Amino acid sequence: MNKKKSDEEVYNEKEKFSIRTFGCQMNVYDSDRISEILSENGYEKSDNAENADVLVINTCSVREKPRNRVISVIENVRSKNPGVKVVVTGCVAQLEGESLFENGADFVVGPDWYESIPVLLSGAGNSGSQASMLEQGDENFLTARGPSAGVSAFVPIQKGCDNFCAYCVVPAARGPERSRSEHDILREVHHFIECGAREIYLLGQNVNSWKGNGGFAALLKKICLIPELKRLRFTTSHPADISDELIDAFGSIPQLMPWFHLPMQSGSNRILDLMGRKYDLEHYFSMVKKLRDSRSDIVFTTDIIVGFPGETEEDFIQTVDAVEKVGFEGMFSFMYSVRPDTRAEKMPDHISHEIKAERLKRLQNSFEETLPERLGKYTGTVQEVLVEGESLRDSSAAKGRIPHNHVVNFTLSKPVNSLIGKIVNVKINEVRTHTLYGEMI
Ligand code: 5AD
Ligand code: SF4
Repeated sequence: MNKKKSDEEVYNEKEKFSIRTFGCQMNVYDSDRISEILSENGYEKSDNAENADVLVINTCSVREKPRNRVISVIENVRSKNPGVKVVVTGCVAQLEGESLFENGADFVVGPDWYESIPVLLSGAGNSGSQASMLEQGDENFLTARGPSAGVSAFVPIQKGCDNFCAYCVVPAARGPERSRSEHDILREVHHFIECGAREIYLLGQNVNSWKGNGGFAALLKKICLIPELKRLRFTTSHPADISDELIDAFGSIPQLMPWFHLPMQSGSNRILDLMGRKYDLEHYFSMVKKLRDSRSDIVFTTDIIVGFPGETEEDFIQTVDAVEKVGFEGMFSFMYSVRPDTRAEKMPDHISHEIKAERLKRLQNSFEETLPERLGKYTGTVQEVLVEGESLRDSSAAKGRIPHNHVVNFTLSKPVNSLIGKIVNVKINEVRTHTLYGEMI
């Protein structure tokens, strides 16, 4: 039964906030910063949106599905918690703005305005109960004040995108490309390392085109001078912007892990051209080769879109073949999703949902069929694993990643907690779909 609270208890009680995050790692990073900003301004985090005073929904609009979930999340929380103040942030907020008020949002805040959320919530400066902040172009970046969630920390080095691929909503949602200063990047890396992180993931829509002293490869070198940093990774890259210096860096910086996420999007030059990707398949393959020449054990993962407008069966087969040829060890594949106000939206020959779904299934089946063969090479090897914590399924086992970014669950004879953040040797005994299993030696 609910106990009636005394006036003093009510007075001292902090307002509670909850956050739902959709989309990419940039949104995960941003949500952590929003949590810090709200906590510093007297709010208390709650995992339960149903008893929260404020629900922040940090949204993604890269495809239609995550975009539509925003509306169902608002409807759902409103039915259980009618008084909650709903703050919509992220890409859907930026793109759809105040029209989200009709869907139940109270505040709509674009990615450049998260520092202002407490002011908006307090009602200062806005006359009604609804308000938005959506102007784009701010050069400032958010800064982490607290620790990262684990031994790996995300550090954005860039925001926005100038590529304007024909299918993509990101340039509109995140504005023009802006680079974070080297000073601020290094400061944040140091901050996370002081808080216990041992691996850094640099984030950006196109990290290879980071603009700063000496360019992206020089930035990697400087970050790796920090002695406590064990591993450095980055995502995401554009195949047209990979410099020779970056390729060389894989051969010369031991902390730079042998894993490269390189979105191919299509294996047909005709479709790559329609997509406005600014490279052809031959260029893509030559980047893969050069990177392998620089670091022989480097592995690649990729993103593929099937069913782009005008994609023929022949174009699709070329994609399946190209995926096979590179031998990716991970693939994110999507049906093309029409996004408002993109060039592809207006292109002819959109593909039916049935054909897109059928092609996606075929691509995924073909990939999954050969994956065990590719990952089988790890069985019997000893891998260096950065220990992240307990294994999700078995608290007596541990979980971490090998240099090539695959997750490994392993048994060990010491308490997991004593090893978090350390690199240990694990003998790989088995590979099941995408996960490796082994024992610490
Ligand atoms: N439809 C389907 N997939 C898309 N992506 C980006 N835009 C779209 C779209 N309109 C995919 C790309 C990108 C990944 C993050 O999402 O493959 O690399
Ligand atoms: Fe991230 Fe792109 Fe989704 Fe925005 S639209 S959240 S940038 S994946």
